[in-house]
Amino acid sequence: MSRKTLWALVMVVALAVLALPGAGAQEMTPTVQWGGNDELGSFLVGPNGMTLYIFANDTPGVSNCSGDCLANWPPLLVEEGQQPTLAAGIPGRLGVIQRPDDGTFQVVYNGMPLYYWVNDKQPGDATGHNVRGVWFVAKPADVSLGGNAELGPFLVGPNGMTLYMFTKDAPGVSNCSGDCLAKWPPLLVSEGQQPTLQPGLPGTVSTIEREDGTYQVTYNDMPLYYWVNDQQPGDATGQGVNDVWFVIQPPTVRVGSNDELGAFLVGPDGMTLYMFTKDAPGVSNCYDDCAVRWPPLLIPEGQQPTAGEGVTGKLGVTERQDGTYQVTYNDMPLYYWIKDVVPGDATGQNVGEVWFVVSPEESMGAMGAEQPAAPALDGAALVAQRCTVCHSAERIDNARKDRAGWEATVDRMIGYGAQLNADERQAVIDYLSSR
Ligand code: HEC
Repeated sequence: MSRKTLWALVMVVALAVLALPGAGAQEMTPTVQWGGNDELGSFLVGPNGMTLYIFANDTPGVSNCSGDCLANWPPLLVEEGQQPTLAAGIPGRLGVIQRPDDGTFQVVYNGMPLYYWVNDKQPGDATGHNVRGVWFVAKPADVSLGGNAELGPFLVGPNGMTLYMFTKDAPGVSNCSGDCLAKWPPLLVSEGQQPTLQPGLPGTVSTIEREDGTYQVTYNDMPLYYWVNDQQPGDATGQGVNDVWFVIQPPTVRVGSNDELGAFLVGPDGMTLYMFTKDAPGVSNCYDDCAVRWPPLLIPEGQQPTAGEGVTGKLGVTERQDGTYQVTYNDMPLYYWIKDVVPGDATGQNVGEVWFVVSPEESMGAMGAEQPAAPALDGAALVAQRCTVCHSAERIDNARKDRAGWEATVDRMIGYGAQLNADERQAVIDYLSSR
């Protein structure tokens, strides 16, 4: 039996199991799940197991396939109001766009509309791949946002498995070889391949050539690795190993923008954040249906939100009625809007005249409530607590820089996951540049 037939058989069996009567299994089938074949490896498939494609002539959130094109490439559709679901462990984001031609609702993955190919006959077929050089099977980016309940969001590889950085590496240089490499397999791409980053994530991905001639993916110039003891997506058992291996966490809140509204706050995945004028400082009044349409920006218990560059307001946390923790900005709870599809969308602006994007410098203006002056932060204590998570204090003691140098270093550390909000960042920089 060929490998391809084997793949197809595995898929058919998997589908047969899902279709068993009883547990309403059919409804629970995710809209998008893993499929694959021997030639192309893993790729995304629809609820029927058939291969999904993206069209290079589309742009994020916009389908440019209509008429004859659509007859050959039927879109993956959902009912109006239905939220598509991604099978557990597949990194990336789904959304829905309404097609201008017939008003149907098409699923998008990382912003790109998804299609089937009319000539595929069975699961595992991917005969549409590379048709005219513009149709490709849909795959996750090389580096995407995953996460778990304990640590919150962090970076993962194309298979959904957690990625780590090694604090003994330096930018552009891997110092992990031999036994180290056996435990920490590098995230590789083939020669000449530009690694991809899930749209909306901060930072940049690139590659370095390793001594054995393979190409390892880097994030903000730091080489990326998997950890051999992680078993499934969401595992992060390598976190803190030997005090030198760490997951990579983008800031909780950073600055995004679009042409119409200028700068506003976005979450770790780059999607626009909103505040609700019916909330009070530190109190969310959005529950039930409201919270389905406006999902709160949550953070694991006990964690402090971190600020990206330019976020100068006060970040905090408020406990919701269900015991989850929602991030606040200048005390106002933050939310996403379910109809935003791609980073830069801000379609929730002014909805009901009560929802608004959040300016990074918002001094709560119309919201009234003067903020009491924050107590002065102890920069030395912050350095001792927050800066020694990934490396020793000596690394910091030995370094001498001017203020601009420390700003750059501290921001790089925040990019790696140092947990500092805007005020704390300032206090640390003040302290370090005054030593
Ligand atoms: C999430 C892990 C992590 C945390 C937390 C962290 N660092 Fe680092 N740090 C690194 C890594 C990785 C390197 C080596 C790569 C590099 O220099 O960019 C490094 C290197 C350094 C260096 C040596 C390189 C240089 O630019 O001089 C200094 C100094 C430093 N860190 C200071 C800090 C300070 C100050 C803090 C607290 C604000 C901090 N680190 C928190 C991961 C971390």
